[in-house]
Amino acid sequence: MSHVQLCVNVDHIATLRQARGGNEPDPIQGAIICEEHGAAGITVHLREDRRHIQDHDVYALRKVVKGKFNLEMALSDEIIDIALKVKPDQVTLVPEKRQEITTEGGLDVKTHFKRICEIVSLFHQENILVSLFIEPDEEAVKLSKESGADFIELHTGTYCNAREKDDIEKQKNKLFHAAKIATTIGIRVNAGHGLNYINTAPILRMPGLEELNIGHSIISRSIFTGLGNAVSEMVRIINENK
Ligand code: PXP
Repeated sequence: MSHVQLCVNVDHIATLRQARGGNEPDPIQGAIICEEHGAAGITVHLREDRRHIQDHDVYALRKVVKGKFNLEMALSDEIIDIALKVKPDQVTLVPEKRQEITTEGGLDVKTHFKRICEIVSLFHQENILVSLFIEPDEEAVKLSKESGADFIELHTGTYCNAREKDDIEKQKNKLFHAAKIATTIGIRVNAGHGLNYINTAPILRMPGLEELNIGHSIISRSIFTGLGNAVSEMVRIINENK
């Protein structure tokens, strides 16, 4: 059996809610359904522009999430203050640009190294795990370890966007190589972004892989199958492809 765990990103439930400005669909109810159907945790991104998840969602999720509650956030003082109040189990530091449709790439750990080290120690004082969302790049993995972070989350977006067989293999190898370095130097491994019902299975044997953060494909499928079925199907894929 695979030990890889699924954390479902429920941002897009909030995206739909914000389209009408009302209360439905409710990401909190979505989080409960995801956990009931085998998700080991829930991930949300509290963006500076609050385009989907709102502050009240984060406080409410802290109360209902039974597994790991993972809060994605930019290197932003405002969001850090909120995270320190909410106390999720884990924060994942991500780059954030206002114009982007979704997170576009990994964190520039080298440029922001000092700031990242400060943030890591701030969260460690509160016993909150810290993960850094990075490209599958050797230097970024090593600097992540040096920063004191507990996890890297390898950005799988380039692998997911690859269309030619050779390129898919090349991008997959990059992920596996970065994960191998991480396990060798002793930093834990998560992965995510762009994963779906087809491209997830081939990366499940990445060295040391513990958690996958998957959102868009699961919430999209849920429109047709219901959220419980969409989560169960992804859990089945993960468990059958050890
Ligand atoms: N991991 C990180 C760091 C992300 O920013 C996102 C998107 O919010 C995801 C995983 C999930 O990506 P997707 O919605 O494409 O599954």
